[in-house]
Amino acid sequence: MRACAWLLVPLATAQREPFALPASFEGTWQGVPYASVVGPWSENFTFAITKLPEQDYLFQANLPFDASPEFRQYWSWQRSYLRVSGEDRGRLLHCPGPRDPKRKRVAMMQAHTVSDREVTFCLRKWPGYDESKHPFPFHSLGCYKADAEEGCGCFNWTLRVDESGTRMDYQVSMAGSPFELRSRHVWATLQRIPYVAAVNLEFPGSGAHFDCDYHNRDEHQTELARCPFAFYYRPPPETSIVAASAFKHCYNLDAQVGLVLEWDIDEQTSSLHVQISALSDVAEYVSLGFRPLGGSSSLAARKANTGREQRFGMAGADIVLGSVTGGVQQYYSSAYSGAPEPDQSLTIRDASVERRGGRVFLRFRRPLIGGWLYSHHGITASIASNVSDMIWAVGTWSGVDEAPSYHGALRGWREVNWTDPEFDSRPLLSLRPYRCGLTIYP
Ligand SMILES: *[C@@H]1O[C@H](CO)[C@@H](O)[C@H](O)[C@H]1NC(C)=O
Ligand SMILES: *[C@@H]1O[C@H](CO)[C@@H](O)[C@H](O)[C@H]1NC(C)=O
Ligand SMILES: *[C@@H]1O[C@H](CO)[C@@H](O)[C@H](O)[C@H]1NC(C)=O
Ligand SMILES: *[C@@H]1O[C@H](CO)[C@@H](O)[C@H](O)[C@H]1NC(C)=O
Repeated sequence: MRACAWLLVPLATAQREPFALPASFEGTWQGVPYASVVGPWSENFTFAITKLPEQDYLFQANLPFDASPEFRQYWSWQRSYLRVSGEDRGRLLHCPGPRDPKRKRVAMMQAHTVSDREVTFCLRKWPGYDESKHPFPFHSLGCYKADAEEGCGCFNWTLRVDESGTRMDYQVSMAGSPFELRSRHVWATLQRIPYVAAVNLEFPGSGAHFDCDYHNRDEHQTELARCPFAFYYRPPPETSIVAASAFKHCYNLDAQVGLVLEWDIDEQTSSLHVQISALSDVAEYVSLGFRPLGGSSSLAARKANTGREQRFGMAGADIVLGSVTGGVQQYYSSAYSGAPEPDQSLTIRDASVERRGGRVFLRFRRPLIGGWLYSHHGITASIASNVSDMIWAVGTWSGVDEAPSYHGALRGWREVNWTDPEFDSRPLLSLRPYRCGLTIYP
């Protein structure tokens, strides 16, 4: 009987049953990301999964700025829409954020490896996909070469709930080439919280008709009061001290490790005088990497193994590191991940490292144009261009190896406008919410 009934159900029909997430996923989840693209967080991330009356799911997340208290009233808010039937069955329509509201960028993901406690979403091409507008260049990365799991090679997002249904692993990973080592884009262990997020929307169109609306529906930046989690928000305790800086520009880039970036631009000599420091209880070394073409989509950048494909890894960075015991060291990173190679391509001057007042400071001067790309490829890209980015890391120094130990999650990436860091008003992309003089975390 059972075999017979099974035979009467063609496979295609069975596959068209509505897509379902494990029931224990539904609800609201909260936790502090221990690894992220901008470094470990110190404030909570809140994430909700709601099953709508039409059986589709709505994902909502807040991205607090983890910055100066005066910016706590602004949040970034993301929504994603999971379709359970029709042409987009099992697909997540996602509005990447925080982004420029003028650019209506859409991403699509497909659910893979669904079990009773876990699901992984991977990138997918969608009708009308435009590589140049997409935040992730998965065509030039070759994300689509692996057939069954296409897209998984370059980006994947796993949600996994424990047996008790009270803890969720939230892991978004990026890679610089298919199935190679990945970078943790947002990794957190979330706890279930007894809060029901408000759901107030008209479900947007599917497939080619889906469109992000950053001004309303998928608002990339919102006042706290309009965020679905506003009523559950508890500000963290105030544990900050005021700092003064001798440099014109000063920003607290990461509260967890106390990372402070300070600099002056000398227009006469076209050079940067920079100081980076962090708390000495987590940092025996502090390091700063520059990628003049970090966001470039050009063939020249790709040929030189830098550019947008390597964006969330290290490839293409001239790195200066300061360790109290190891002194000032220089490296170039030719790989997306792994230890960089000692390299002196970047000319630095007046370099020093010192430990003072519970912090480790590295200070030096460098020309705006210089480093590996200049000396090996003759590329005159300036770190003050609109495609440049920077990376930082802190960690322990190995006296045995006379080398930095792996930084783990104590690292981050930023786009910095070195000449006018607050020119861009987008919180999370602009440095405005991180300005010193307001607060430095201990
Ligand atoms: C984060 O949220 C958890 C669970 O809701 C809470 O116990 C904790 O105090 C919060 N931490 C911060 C830094 O706000
Ligand atoms: C997702 O990425 C993780 C981390 O690199 C990897 O272990 C896992 O196999 C990937 N999953 C899929 C479905 O590709
Ligand atoms: C950077 O600026 C150039 C002009 O100098 C412009 O053509 C290009 O589109 C800009 N790129 C980005 C990523 O904003
Ligand atoms: C930095 O800000 C200035 C405005 O002062 C702007 O003209 C320039 O394009 C910005 N540079 C980058 C790299 O975005």
